[in-house]
Amino acid sequence: MKVANILCMGAGYVGGPTMAVIADRCPGLRVTVCDIDAGRIAQWNSDRLPVYEPGLEEVVRRTRGRNLFFQVLSPEAIAQADLIFVSVNTPTKTYGEGAGMAADLRYWDSSAREILAHATGETVVVEKSTVPVRTAEAISEILHTHADGRRFFVLSNPEFLAEGTAVRDLERPDRVLIGHEGSEGSRAAAEALAAIYRQWVPEERILLSGVWSSELAKLAANAFLAQRVSSINAVSAICEKTGADIGEISQAIGMDPRIGGAFLEAGVGFGGSCFRKDILNLAYLCGQYGLQEVAAYWKGVVELNDYQIARFARLVVESQFNTVAGKRIAIFGFTFKPGTNDTRDSPAIGVCRHLLEERACLAITDPQGLAHAREELQGAAPEVEFEPDPYRAAQGAHAVVLLTHWPEFAGLDYRRIFAAMEKPAFFFDGRRQLDAALLHEIGFNVYAVGSPPKTRF
Ligand code: UDX
Ligand code: UDX
Repeated sequence: MKVANILCMGAGYVGGPTMAVIADRCPGLRVTVCDIDAGRIAQWNSDRLPVYEPGLEEVVRRTRGRNLFFQVLSPEAIAQADLIFVSVNTPTKTYGEGAGMAADLRYWDSSAREILAHATGETVVVEKSTVPVRTAEAISEILHTHADGRRFFVLSNPEFLAEGTAVRDLERPDRVLIGHEGSEGSRAAAEALAAIYRQWVPEERILLSGVWSSELAKLAANAFLAQRVSSINAVSAICEKTGADIGEISQAIGMDPRIGGAFLEAGVGFGGSCFRKDILNLAYLCGQYGLQEVAAYWKGVVELNDYQIARFARLVVESQFNTVAGKRIAIFGFTFKPGTNDTRDSPAIGVCRHLLEERACLAITDPQGLAHAREELQGAAPEVEFEPDPYRAAQGAHAVVLLTHWPEFAGLDYRRIFAAMEKPAFFFDGRRQLDAALLHEIGFNVYAVGSPPKTRF
């Protein structure tokens, strides 16, 4: 099976960077990235890309117009493709059966129908989006209803990149997982896809598996990662009550090689487009198969995360003498993690909404996330300022609430910030980024997640 033309449907956080790296590493391939959103395509073809990722601009500059092309989805693009990645979004369903839990597959379904309408000859269709287990089977059924002599092979190739490190993760992946249906043709299709990755990924990191294992592995990987965050956050709540310190605990338990040190940073909670969605999807799937106890176990991970966000937001109000009404509060960081402009499901959304309900006036600062923050908090306008300069955001504020550990925040002059604030000045460190002892010495009342507060009264 020969692959020369690749198409990706969906030019989002996953599709855009993934295709840019494939084009960069495989100059012999022609890679076209399509989207139904013409505005998004225009951004990909401009100097200001719609996705902020360190290193991405350089890769796009090298490849765009050479063997990487961004265009609005067209029948010709589908007809010319030998292999089609589908990377459209699969949000949590908001309607009907499974609302609030199951994955909404309508974009996947319509993409499959577009492929069926316009593909020619033999086409490999690759699931890049996270999808419920057995989606490949359903897609395969749609594609084979009116194949008319054409052949389709559906593979699962989940993406494990993390935002903020996407380019590095794509260039040096821990593993590339390719699920196939087991038939001879499907195996050959998986081999053709593996051959693309072999151009820069060591052979031993490319795993071939059954298609359902591949689909479930993606959900399980995200569930395990999120579960670690909820576990350490659960311990952080005990720390705050008992006077133990979560930083010391993370270090002590992380040195056990069976536990490992990664993903043990306590904080205001996890966010992003994947963790909540994938766990709820996993729990829904378990429920569908009658595995209620398993579903409840995974749902607990999300519930603990919601608790952590609410707990932190309440702490901000309670510590300031139970009222923030009319008080200016500076929010440092709105994206769900540093290194991205993505604010989807960011804990900042919940914290800010809670403070707004308590009638606080917010001044939000973020190095990359202000445009999306504005969209997330639409309607709250007069009470919210969006301020690129953190010093200005903190000017006259009663409190600074740090929600994303952007390196930019570590380098600020906190004596200057303290001097310009109302007194008593409060600092709530939702990411344990800053030196609490130093902030306390400057004069702040400091509340860091997972540590006893350092107050001045
Ligand atoms: C991806 C995966 O698809 C999702 O399943 C995974 O869990 C997270 O990562 P992401 O790239 O982050 O999603 O989503 P997004 O940035 O929203 O991009 C999806 C793109 O697909 C959008 O640009 C949207 O316009 C496009 N789209 C959507 C299509 O081109 N066709 C459609 O029918 C629907
Ligand atoms: C995640 C997975 O890591 C990735 O493999 C998958 O493909 C997509 O989902 P992403 O959501 O981009 O990636 O970021 P990640 O680094 O996993 O962080 C998710 C959230 O967990 C962030 O809000 C982060 O701040 C939080 N987190 C992470 C913690 O609170 N503590 C930690 O120790 C680690």
